[in-house]
Amino acid sequence: MKAETVKLIHGGDLQSAAMRYGIELEEWIDLSTGINPCAYPIPKLNEICFQQLPYLSTEFKKAVTSYYGSDRFAACSGSQQVIELLPKLLPKLPVLLPSLGYQEHSESWINACEDERDIHFYPATDQDVAIERIEFQLEQGEPFHLVVINPNNPTGLSFSVAQLFDWSSRLAEGGFLIVDEAFIDLHPEQSVLSDYDEFHTVDNLVVMRSFGKFFGLAGLRLGFLFGPEVVLQAVHNRIGIWSINGPAQAVATDAFNNRTWQMKNRVNIRLNSERTLTLFSPLLKRIEAKMQGTSLLFSSWWVESERLEQMYDFFAQRGVLLRVIEELSKPSDLSLLRLGIIDAENESIVLKLQQVIDEFILTFD
Ligand SMILES: Cc1ncc(COP(=O)(O)O)c(C=O)c1O
Repeated sequence: MKAETVKLIHGGDLQSAAMRYGIELEEWIDLSTGINPCAYPIPKLNEICFQQLPYLSTEFKKAVTSYYGSDRFAACSGSQQVIELLPKLLPKLPVLLPSLGYQEHSESWINACEDERDIHFYPATDQDVAIERIEFQLEQGEPFHLVVINPNNPTGLSFSVAQLFDWSSRLAEGGFLIVDEAFIDLHPEQSVLSDYDEFHTVDNLVVMRSFGKFFGLAGLRLGFLFGPEVVLQAVHNRIGIWSINGPAQAVATDAFNNRTWQMKNRVNIRLNSERTLTLFSPLLKRIEAKMQGTSLLFSSWWVESERLEQMYDFFAQRGVLLRVIEELSKPSDLSLLRLGIIDAENESIVLKLQQVIDEFILTFD
């Protein structure tokens, strides 16, 4: 019998989940995002940061430059803010985007674009196929913008730094390479910012970084755009002078300077990722899930759509929020399950999750 269609809730939208399923906010286990569940601990803040107008402080600028390796940045209210802005600021040209990827990119380009025929997609589940499609477009010699999410959320697809610099150098006049590195903090050596000299000589490459994922503080709303001065200036003109509030600057400065926490958490995220997958492994086997990719902060699995919808609802009724992504362009009956990670040190979370997984497996018998 076909299950009734369940309306899916956006990743991280616990407010809607709490209302729909009648479960208090703090009782949820949220596996619907790729945010580090072990957030950076908020330091004691000097009250001045609440009282003064938030011009970017010297300490903040120094900490940003030291953490990311470049001082050519615009700070913004999460990388989401620049995702929305860029299509309005860059030259009006066709754009090539991943067919599957953080949807806000395509939404923003579609909103800003006058002619839908200027929006093109490359397949984003297989690296070779993606490269072939991008190469084909470059060989046409016509200008266009290229959007790469590196690594891709949710497919895990990633490209090397050399590949990205090569593409930016071959884009025809006017075309920009836009790289979203929201999930790259676990592998900073894979960021285009890791090659300072090369990055600073390129004038058609912009890079977004997100503070919220690795540091687990998505609610702070902080992100960055790195790139040529002319684009940064255009962003500054749009977002104004006080876009990063004082407490956000103070917390981020502390987090960027805390190398010990960063090192520990790279290891911790790997352990939490392994523990989460170990918990889910019997269930994933049982539903014949095929792994698509991982970024450590999440893993993505192809699952038969109807079964996944049942699983989503079953888990949500018990206070565990999952993320299901419909691949509209795929003619098959598969959907993508994207699983975030838990804090595996938290025994009550582990126990509760284990129980829900076991109960769901029992429904198969
Ligand atoms: C790939 C990607 N880029 C950017 C964002 C936006 O993140 P933020 O605005 O919190 O920096 C997200 C959020 O989930 C994302 O998945």
